[in-house]
Amino acid sequence: MNEIKFYSGEQIPLELHKVRVVQKIQMVPIERRLEALQEGMFNTYRLTTKDVFIDMLTDSGTNALSDKQLAAMMQADDAYAGSQSFFRLKQAVEDVLGKKYYLPVHQGRAAENIISYAYVKKGNLIPMNYRFSTLLAHITQHGGKIIELLYDEAYVIDSTHPFKGNINIEKLEEVIQIHGAENVPYIRMEASTNLIGGQPFSIQNLRDVRAIADKYNIRLVLDASLLGENAYLVIQREEEFKESTLPEVIQTMTGLADIVYFSARKLSSSRGGGICTNNTDIYKELSPLIPLFEGFLTYGGISVREMESMAVGLYETIDETMISQSLSFIAYLVNALDANGVPMVKPAGVLGAHLNAMEICKHIPQKEYPAASLAAALYLVSGIRGMERGTMSSQRDEDGNEPCADMELVRLAVPRRVFTLSQIKYVVDRVTWLYENRELIDGLRFVEEPPMFRSFMGGLEPVSDWPQKLLNKFREDFGDSL
Ligand SMILES: Cc1ncc(COP(=O)(O)O)c(C=O)c1O
Repeated sequence: MNEIKFYSGEQIPLELHKVRVVQKIQMVPIERRLEALQEGMFNTYRLTTKDVFIDMLTDSGTNALSDKQLAAMMQADDAYAGSQSFFRLKQAVEDVLGKKYYLPVHQGRAAENIISYAYVKKGNLIPMNYRFSTLLAHITQHGGKIIELLYDEAYVIDSTHPFKGNINIEKLEEVIQIHGAENVPYIRMEASTNLIGGQPFSIQNLRDVRAIADKYNIRLVLDASLLGENAYLVIQREEEFKESTLPEVIQTMTGLADIVYFSARKLSSSRGGGICTNNTDIYKELSPLIPLFEGFLTYGGISVREMESMAVGLYETIDETMISQSLSFIAYLVNALDANGVPMVKPAGVLGAHLNAMEICKHIPQKEYPAASLAAALYLVSGIRGMERGTMSSQRDEDGNEPCADMELVRLAVPRRVFTLSQIKYVVDRVTWLYENRELIDGLRFVEEPPMFRSFMGGLEPVSDWPQKLLNKFREDFGDSL
């Protein structure tokens, strides 16, 4: 995409949209934020939005809708079976993703449930570039295990590697040989690998996976929830595709997979999901599960209005000015914080900026959740809500042991076309202040630990009175500022 150059030479991301519907947000004082944290048991998932100023928890279902999506929602065709809204969506899936069979599901994890239900048996192994938390739970539920096969470079936080989401091809083949191809129902590749900081894979890597899948007759499943951004970064970073268009790159990627599934809360900024394929056998195997778990085959648990919005949102995914917006804001945020010395995941990736809590809070042991502590501290000093991505988000093993995560990150999601640049500058300001006062942050411990998805609903408490100390320092430095 051609860049707009500034006379001053300054490089800032320029919004290529205008705001026509707004939502008022409010900032409560830091004393109220401390109470809100206590009420929410120091888990940012448990805060309510009336206490949150800038909500960077996730981009899932929080991207801005376009005027065209809203308009399309008004012409939805309400019907249990055979709705025209479904056929418009099916056409969009075929046009954008290049797959003729489309199975609607109410969100991404429903697709994970159906694919696992159909293909994962006890003792199976599913190799992948990296897990997503809901996916891991579904595979485990069916007696399967996963193996993550990233290259070492992916774990280097401060890196210049353009494709940290690549799967390790040599290890992939080795794992299949050791485990036996008959025990590997599919290989999964996730576009813009979420949990390692939104890092893409290259098309060459996907082609290499396809070759292995063909050699051993194993299905290749693509999680396309963040496909548009991965495709955009392929054009930016992979020499062979620098002259290609977004639709070409997207269809090159989907064309290599047997099954493509997605959370539409991400892919098309609407609320729904889908599984699509060109393989008639796969369609026949999966389609009976839609009425069982989701709803009739022409709505799958999605409202007709959302289906209309999803169809338009899919076409908008191939608009470079749309898909590059959050990427350019993320790059701005990462570069500005990096320039202030704050340890970040680099290169800037997809869906959000990621703070390296392992480094920022290196004085906090992993068993006291440095990333969760940093997320709580950031909310306290700014009203910015981020998400913990570390040990607190991992699951205990069968023996109750708690594995320490490979990375301790705080994700600051940047949903598409939601924030202004001055809000992003506020984030840079407060994160930098917090970084300079990081020694005041201490750990957290669980007081309520649910057996599954403890990061969503678990309750914690601080191991010392550090939140009050941080509040006092904030008041010293900022006076009566909110
Ligand atoms: C890569 C990826 N896959 C699957 C999902 C699950 O989708 P959903 O939240 O719609 O269930 C998500 C959600 O964030 C995701 O990021």
